[in-house]
Amino acid sequence: MKFFVDTADIAAIQDLASTGLLDGVTTNPSLIAQTGRDFIEVVKEIAELVDGPVSAEVTALTADKMIEEGRYLASLASNIAVKVPLTMDGLKACRALRDGGAMVNVTLCFSSNQALLAAKAGASFISPFLGRLDDVGEDGIALIEDIRQIYDNFGFETEILAASIRSPLHVRDAALAGADVATVPPKVLNQLIHHPLTDKGLDAFLKDWEATGQSILKGK
Ligand code: G3P
Repeated sequence: MKFFVDTADIAAIQDLASTGLLDGVTTNPSLIAQTGRDFIEVVKEIAELVDGPVSAEVTALTADKMIEEGRYLASLASNIAVKVPLTMDGLKACRALRDGGAMVNVTLCFSSNQALLAAKAGASFISPFLGRLDDVGEDGIALIEDIRQIYDNFGFETEILAASIRSPLHVRDAALAGADVATVPPKVLNQLIHHPLTDKGLDAFLKDWEATGQSILKGK
């Protein structure tokens, strides 16, 4: 499974890019607003920091305007994935942008039928929002399972990008359900690394090592 980071925070992206674990970045208008910076500048900077897809979202509501905004966003860098909402206009824009060679991420997906339509519109990525479904008492992971089944039934190549991830458990369950990508906030990505038994085990190893008085590089 690929890992994207869900943030527009340049410092956090830089930090994670240096680990070699990062396959891409997703942003949305709320995440851009949190930076207090110019959208286009931020998107260009992010696209230079990572090789993989960087999602940048249109804000128009009509297909024509989405296509115009999307073409402009796609012209900023070759790794931009234009993000469009899962509306009829968004799907029309998706098809036109894909026909023009742009990558498209269809976002705000909350049902398997929506995901089916996005795949038919040629989406590169579909973004089901797990956390927001869980918030209203629905089952976000069951949605990923259904989309996986539907895409496999018909051989759709649209990648399932599990979004609105709030916890390490969401990441594990999305991986088990067959998501192609998880887009994860930096905090959750860091949480994935830590385990108390790893820390405890490392402490014990180092204590025993110190007692030997040896140093690996001593003879170098
Ligand atoms: O990728 C979509 C994500 O940013 C939404 O997350 O936590 O606002 O539901 P959240």
